[in-house]
Amino acid sequence: MRILGIETSCDETGVAIYDSKLGILINNICSQVNIHSKYGGVVPELAARNHNKNILPLIQDALLKTNSSKNNIHGIAYTAGPGLTGSLLVGASIAKSLAYAWNIPTIAINHMEGHLLSPMLNNNELSFPFLALLVSGKHTQLIRANDIGSYDLLGKSLDDAVGEVFDKVAVALGLKYPGGLPLSMLAMHGFSNKYIFPKPLIDKPNLMFSFSGLKTSVINTICNLSNINYQDKANIARSFEDTVIEILVNKCAKAIHISKIKKLVIAGGVSANNKLRFYLHNMINKRRGTLFYPNKELCTDNGAMIAYAGLLRLKDNKYNNLKTSIKSNWQIESINNS
Ligand code: KG4
Ligand code: ZN
Repeated sequence: MRILGIETSCDETGVAIYDSKLGILINNICSQVNIHSKYGGVVPELAARNHNKNILPLIQDALLKTNSSKNNIHGIAYTAGPGLTGSLLVGASIAKSLAYAWNIPTIAINHMEGHLLSPMLNNNELSFPFLALLVSGKHTQLIRANDIGSYDLLGKSLDDAVGEVFDKVAVALGLKYPGGLPLSMLAMHGFSNKYIFPKPLIDKPNLMFSFSGLKTSVINTICNLSNINYQDKANIARSFEDTVIEILVNKCAKAIHISKIKKLVIAGGVSANNKLRFYLHNMINKRRGTLFYPNKELCTDNGAMIAYAGLLRLKDNKYNNLKTSIKSNWQIESINNS
């Protein structure tokens, strides 16, 4: 079975083809980072226009390079939410039009479900139930994944998402958008504990997160330093990154303790962070559990995770008709009822 996957929720146009026997045949990604970086964040109107420009050439290229056509594609999976409305509409419209013309099913995929299942693309041994820490530019969530489409939300950020805070602190440090990777590289040159930042909600027994107080504290520290030099910036980046990781690891440990589940997935753009992986590994190993994460190129937004989620849903007969519409605020825990 072969699925075409289309991802257009934010600023990456992703088109992939996944084959149930051969795995990922192609994973085309056209990043719009250069277009949005000068604004320090994604401009929705520009994102939609560029998806519109990029998507058909990416689909044509994917079909051509994998020898695929309407004769051997069995379904089209597309991101139906959450995400930017205009951007989602581009992917959904193309997916539905092609599916109508080719007379094959469409599968509307929740973007966060795509991230959550993405470690399965490179780990055969990952099975339900498991815990998942989803950390992206817009989400920070702890989920109990029971089965395909059955997800319980255990905790989430009450304000900013982790990736968003990485990006905002990075801008304040004069780094390029998206700032997660450049900030963690700068942090490697910093000394720990030069700055002490708040760790909101870390002592609470629940699984909720809050990052806006930390963000404000870090940005105020940067603004209050006159003649800030490279070493100051590196020290701030280091303390900030260490603080975020301590909070995330602490809440994951609590989730394992509460749920008694020892399989933990980390997915979403921030799961590419090496230090976060390292500390989560240490925590999990002490508890004799296992940590799963996607390959680096599958951490950030891509069509392969959407195609793969589509395959699992199609096999399970969980797909949609052409009337299904996008939901820009689609919450992963509400999939059960949709
Ligand atoms: O999942 P993703 O590609 O897009 C959303 O669905 O939001 O995540 C993008 C986020 C950005 O905030 C980016 O700065 C962050 O992932 N990110 C990282 C790293 N690589 C990407 N954050 C921390 N460390 C990294 N190495
Ligand atoms: Zn994402």
